[in-house]
Amino acid sequence: MSWGLLLALCALLLLVVQLLRFLRADGDLTLMWAEWQGRRPEWELTDMVVWVTGASSGIGEELAYQLSKLGVSLVLSARRVEELERVKRKCLENGSLKGKDILVLPLDLTNTSSHEAATKVVLQEFGKIDILVNNGGRSQRSLFVDTSLDVYKELIDLNYLGTVSLTKCVLPHMIERKQGKIVIVNSLMGIISAPLATGYCASKHALRGFFNGLRAELVTYPGITVSNICPGPVQSNIVKNAVTEEVTKSVGNPGDQSYKMATSRCVRLMLISMANDLKEVWISDHPFLLAAYLGQYMPTLTFWIIGKLGKKRIENFKSGLDADSSYFKPLKKKHD
Ligand SMILES: NC(=O)c1ccc[n+]([C@@H]2O[C@H](COP(=O)([O-])OP(=O)(O)OC[C@H]3O[C@@H](n4cnc5c(N)ncnc54)[C@H](OP(=O)(O)O)[C@@H]3O)[C@@H](O)[C@H]2O)c1
Repeated sequence: MSWGLLLALCALLLLVVQLLRFLRADGDLTLMWAEWQGRRPEWELTDMVVWVTGASSGIGEELAYQLSKLGVSLVLSARRVEELERVKRKCLENGSLKGKDILVLPLDLTNTSSHEAATKVVLQEFGKIDILVNNGGRSQRSLFVDTSLDVYKELIDLNYLGTVSLTKCVLPHMIERKQGKIVIVNSLMGIISAPLATGYCASKHALRGFFNGLRAELVTYPGITVSNICPGPVQSNIVKNAVTEEVTKSVGNPGDQSYKMATSRCVRLMLISMANDLKEVWISDHPFLLAAYLGQYMPTLTFWIIGKLGKKRIENFKSGLDADSSYFKPLKKKHD
């Protein structure tokens, strides 16, 4: 066999392997590799102080449960104290932590003037912050033409400026110690955009732009890492709480959410991303994962596809269904 033919066969084999990996993936291929061969959260994330915003529900709540099993000290923040206390109790029941290891710290991300004092409280309590998980946020379900400008201000204030503000308070401490992990729970909507979520997409795109720039500014501090985590649809209260045409109005009844990725699987992949200091990860089942790859490498084709599917998304939403459920039949595997 000639060398040329051998090389061509190897290239073909590599292509087939990559294609098979991609079809089975529920995250980008770097993340899938890290899950298989990389550092384990159980080795890397122990004995750390982790501050999670949006810890009263959904992804942040599940993050608290999985982190509490790793033996970290936890700071749980959100607005609803009673929900945070519930999460704390469950962490204590299921994990190895003691009461003194978990601080419930009420925080409104939009009240940026309170962030400095909140940071001081964490430092007084635990003496350090190893990981800041910027997770708190709100989504949107409304058409731009029907939506008040206040909704756009609210989404930027909460998802973007709230996150930037808290990071600004915590970063000097990380710089002083020359170490720390800044984690942003972004979204695939921070990479591609879809109808009914123009303000949400804008806030998440802004986060990606900001933190990619910040990472580059921190290049002289290799011990400080910035991870931009972009989940696709995940089971949580995000749709129920999504803002509609007015700031005071939420979706309320979210419709069927069972087709979405299990919260526990998303959070496990987030922990793997943190343990391996991955700079950007995409966590999603197909076809959303495929859409993210297409959006990156074939934007024109993706705009066309989103235009076609977006029409159906709007129809679904207007008829009271979850925007994505009926036309994206689950191709997903069960992970848990
Ligand atoms: N689930 C998904 O499909 C999905 C996909 C991609 C990205 N994400 C992102 O994941 C993050 C978590 O969302 P989730 O899916 O877990 O939704 P969720 O169940 O609705 O949880 C949202 C969390 O954010 C907190 N929050 C809302 N407004 C806040 C404020 N003003 N100040 C402080 N905290 C506030 C909520 O707590 P309080 O109401 O108690 O304040 C709650 O703990 C969000 O950033 C979201 O954009 C979710």
